Amino acid sequence: MRLKDRVAIITGAGNGMGAADALLFAKEGAKVVINDIRQENADEIAKQIQDAGGEAFVSTADVTKPEDVEAMVAETVDKWGKVDILVSNAGWDQLMPFLHTTNDFWDKIFNLNLIGHMNVIKAVLPGMMKNKYGKIVTIGSDAGRTGNPMEAPYSAAKGGVIAFTKTIAREFGRANITANCVCPGITEGTRLSKEMVEDIPDKEKAQKMKATVAKVTPMGRLATPEDVAGAVLFFASDDSRFVTGQVLSTSGGLCTP
Ligand SMILES: NC(=O)c1ccc[n+]([C@@H]2O[C@H](COP(=O)([O-])OP(=O)(O)OC[C@H]3O[C@@H](n4cnc5c(N)ncnc54)[C@H](O)[C@@H]3O)[C@@H](O)[C@H]2O)c1
Repeated sequence: MRLKDRVAIITGAGNGMGAADALLFAKEGAKVVINDIRQENADEIAKQIQDAGGEAFVSTADVTKPEDVEAMVAETVDKWGKVDILVSNAGWDQLMPFLHTTNDFWDKIFNLNLIGHMNVIKAVLPGMMKNKYGKIVTIGSDAGRTGNPMEAPYSAAKGGVIAFTKTIAREFGRANITANCVCPGITEGTRLSKEMVEDIPDKEKAQKMKATVAKVTPMGRLATPEDVAGAVLFFASDDSRFVTGQVLSTSGGLCTP
């Protein structure tokens, strides 16, 4: 078990990739805080972990609200004594031509996809520094590395997440805290891919979009949340103990450095 007795907070863990991370981490022995603003989904993931004999509790903290996030970290320390691992995963986007976007939309995208990460990381760092141990994994996006049409504000925020993660790695390495960023490409079974591809009314168009992505992907298919979870586990475990400030794409070779 690679995470035995470790305490992990995973944001946005009620669905998609965060849920896959939570289930894998619990199998690897971690106690997991299932954070999500959608309580029903988070409860379901916590139940799956508990039914399998693992330990989990739900926090409905909104990562865009510093006071919520601080309360979640305090509750975790109160229950389990520490936070060893943070997977800062919660995120969202809506495809939109840049010229149709508004300042309100930019605020919404930046608040969740950049400031949300900063809130959670700021809240866990003091405890990690005190314990001289911390594994921080941010979930970026290949959009933040290469840019992506129809995702201008999101790409900008994710580019910010990458730069922020590298900075945390450099500033806190001496406290034995690592910070690394996993960058997924389009990943099936997530709310984002359902909203943007799988559930669009034009089924033929959706099939075509998926087939096109699979065709240009060297590994010939779209990712699943479980494909991404293995990379997150690597950065969350001591297998990556001397790896920090790194960015890893989980897009089946679509995006190479
Ligand atoms: N799905 C993709 O194709 C894809 C591609 C690249 C990057 N990403 C990134 O991967 C991460 C996970 O995305 P996903 O596709 O699994 O998403 P998802 O929508 O399936 O799950 C994200 C979860 O975050 C929760 N959430 C939203 N706002 C929150 C908030 N303020 N506080 C706490 N929880 C909140 C949602 O309720 C949801 O359950 C995100 O950072 C996303 O930007 C996704």
